[in-house]
Amino acid sequence: MRKVTIGLLHPGEMGSAVGACLTRQGFGVLWASDGRSRASAGRAAATGLRDAGTVAGLAGQAGVILSICPPQAALAVARSVTGTPGPDQPVPGGPRPAGPAHRFSGVYVDANAVSPATAREVARIVEASGAGYVDGGIIGPPPISAGETRLYLSGPRAGEIAGLFAGTALDARVISDRPGQASALKMAYAAWTKGTAALLLAIRALARAEDVEAALLAEWQQSQPALPARSEAAASSAAGKGWRWAAEMEEIAATMAAASLPDGFHRSAAQIFTRLPRTPAAAGEGSLAAVTDALLATGQPG
Ligand SMILES: NC(=O)c1ccc[n+]([C@@H]2O[C@H](COP(=O)([O-])OP(=O)(O)OC[C@H]3O[C@@H](n4cnc5c(N)ncnc54)[C@H](OP(=O)(O)O)[C@@H]3O)[C@@H](O)[C@H]2O)c1
Repeated sequence: MRKVTIGLLHPGEMGSAVGACLTRQGFGVLWASDGRSRASAGRAAATGLRDAGTVAGLAGQAGVILSICPPQAALAVARSVTGTPGPDQPVPGGPRPAGPAHRFSGVYVDANAVSPATAREVARIVEASGAGYVDGGIIGPPPISAGETRLYLSGPRAGEIAGLFAGTALDARVISDRPGQASALKMAYAAWTKGTAALLLAIRALARAEDVEAALLAEWQQSQPALPARSEAAASSAAGKGWRWAAEMEEIAATMAAASLPDGFHRSAAQIFTRLPRTPAAAGEGSLAAVTDALLATGQPG
């Protein structure tokens, strides 16, 4: 039986590893180089993805499209696939009808760290164009070895997508037929992992600013023995890519607010991550000092 062609938008750290799971199963996987960096092109080449050139070109050939991109780009990526104008690109005379190159009638999977409300907006855009929609949320590192990474899926057609990953390093699990639930699970999970990482980093920066770091560590060793290592680990991950987590924290805050819960924890976490430098800092030893320096320096007036 002929295998479905899969479009991957885009081959970042996570997307390229997900694409590798699929190429190893014999699927043809397309990406779209238009507008993407050399780093994405390098990952796509290393993974054996075929370049469709543009998103429109990819949409015309794929039966399934996986959106794995920064959370703040999720809506724009869905619009680019369906040819839907966005708020930032008004079309004089009303919405532009999707051109033939945009005719995508397969299943669109949004696997980004977005709120259920954003997921439902993606669903609205996709379904209005005549395509199917499946909600997804990825938990774990890029799937290299089996048993470490889950792709949670929800929606009536979630089972079709889970089937693509059978026998791969990515454990795809259908949790419900309700779109939005996979995203809600991802939000609840990351609310703890990245939210507490931000809190620990802020606490380490505070102790440093007040010159009580050694005393805090001594107290933690006695009464909270897990925290010194946890704060070091949080700094190690955040040093290189923490700035990329700000948008995810905003999505979690929106999820909390939509459930009538206080959203301030995660708005603050977004502010913490926004203060981290975009230039990759060395992870590991020394990253705590680099991260707390960045948090304190950005907070200085002038
Ligand atoms: N990395 C992880 O360990 C991990 C774990 C769990 C879930 N996830 C989820 O996976 C998704 C992607 O994360 P990632 O770590 O793979 O990110 P990433 O490494 O930063 O890659 C993002 C990809 O999207 C492209 N991109 C960047 N800005 C874009 C924009 N404005 N419009 C369209 N495409 C854009 C990038 O292309 P260029 O850079 O070439 O422009 C790159 O190919 C996120 O929703 C994240 O929450 C990641």
